Amino acid sequence: MDYINFSKEELEKMLKAEEKTLAKFGKRGLAIDMSRGRPEKSQLEIGMTMLEDAGAYNYELASGDARNYGGLGGIRQARELFGELLGLRAENVIVGDGSSLDFMYTAVSFAMQFGVRGETPWKDLPKVKFICPAPGYDRHFAICEELGIEMITVPMLDDGPDMDTVESLVVDDESIKGIWCVPKYSNPTGIVYSDKVVERLATMKVAAKDFRIFWDNSYVIHGLYDNNDKLKNIFDVARKAGTFDRVLTFASTSKITFAGSGIACMGASEENLTEYLRHLSIREICPNKVNQVMHVAYLKNVDNIKKIMQAHAEILRPKFELVDARLTAEFAGDEFVKWTKPRGGYFVSLDVRHCAKRIVELAKTAGVVFTPAGASFPYHIDDNDSNIRIAPSVPTLEELSTALDVLICAIKIARIELFLSKVFN
Ligand SMILES: Cc1ncc(COP(=O)(O)O)c(C=O)c1O
Repeated sequence: MDYINFSKEELEKMLKAEEKTLAKFGKRGLAIDMSRGRPEKSQLEIGMTMLEDAGAYNYELASGDARNYGGLGGIRQARELFGELLGLRAENVIVGDGSSLDFMYTAVSFAMQFGVRGETPWKDLPKVKFICPAPGYDRHFAICEELGIEMITVPMLDDGPDMDTVESLVVDDESIKGIWCVPKYSNPTGIVYSDKVVERLATMKVAAKDFRIFWDNSYVIHGLYDNNDKLKNIFDVARKAGTFDRVLTFASTSKITFAGSGIACMGASEENLTEYLRHLSIREICPNKVNQVMHVAYLKNVDNIKKIMQAHAEILRPKFELVDARLTAEFAGDEFVKWTKPRGGYFVSLDVRHCAKRIVELAKTAGVVFTPAGASFPYHIDDNDSNIRIAPSVPTLEELSTALDVLICAIKIARIELFLSKVFN
């Protein structure tokens, strides 16, 4: 909608009408949470057969009884399964408990505390910086904030981070120690890194010997359609380039079986994993291997995981399509309202210039909660105040439809308000 064609009076009238609509929603006592990428209840039901069959699984493995202590890096079968999923050998994978974020936080804190492969512990350096492609995953940025790592915001493009900027930064700044990447169905934009970007990340010249790519492959098999979107295997490129040590990858079954109660892994060079396990051995004796046996017995192999993920996609796809259809119906061709159309993952990224905060605030008054505006940026600073992360997975289709009514109404109000204040004040 181009508001330039309307008089002040017409705009005020339109604003009043939208405010009245929003107030009506407010009176309905809605409580729709679209703030986090959680699976909905029917998705959680898919994995229940794993629990129902649990008594019959074989916990007495050749390597030892999974119900007892031992095996800090996880059971071989789970390492092989994640290896198959990530394109790595079992030797390059360790499997832990329910959270890949835990692996990421721990890897960064070990580097802080003890250093990486003989280099100075990061806590003893005057400054440690990470490159943070944005919009990105808010919890990655929270790790940096918590551990005192300075974040350098780099734009996220349609095929991955802006590599010209990344390369120019890492080439001569030794204090840059890492970059966060969600390479497939990125959080929140849903993009898949192009082969070129993967190659450049693996081969770029880096000043810091202990620079690490945090390759968070959380959505490795989470396609909404055919699951045929290909991500180049960064480890294959890195092996050829002699940079295998540079990449640490992470994944979990949080959105395959149970969120937070699945199994998670870290993939890396054997030397990196040995160092990680050395520190970990002081903290714990072994992970929950009973859960690992259950997961391996249930998930079996990647072909079977693909079938399970089809069942998830059937629940999720209509929700993503509804978001796109409703936004298209209202805002197609509007240069001020843009959104992504992901083929996988859990998020749609919406951009409405200069009024994201106001939109989120307005939606909240009607009982629809989004992730706080700006959360997808380091230090919560979105220079254009434009980005809103939409997580359509939790609400039912009916609730989602109502939430989109509220969102659309909030967008209109915020934009008219902005226009009135800019043009007529
Ligand atoms: C990009 C990304 N990484 C990690 C996680 C958390 O994964 P986990 O449950 O394995 O800790 C999420 C959850 O939404 C995510 O979006």
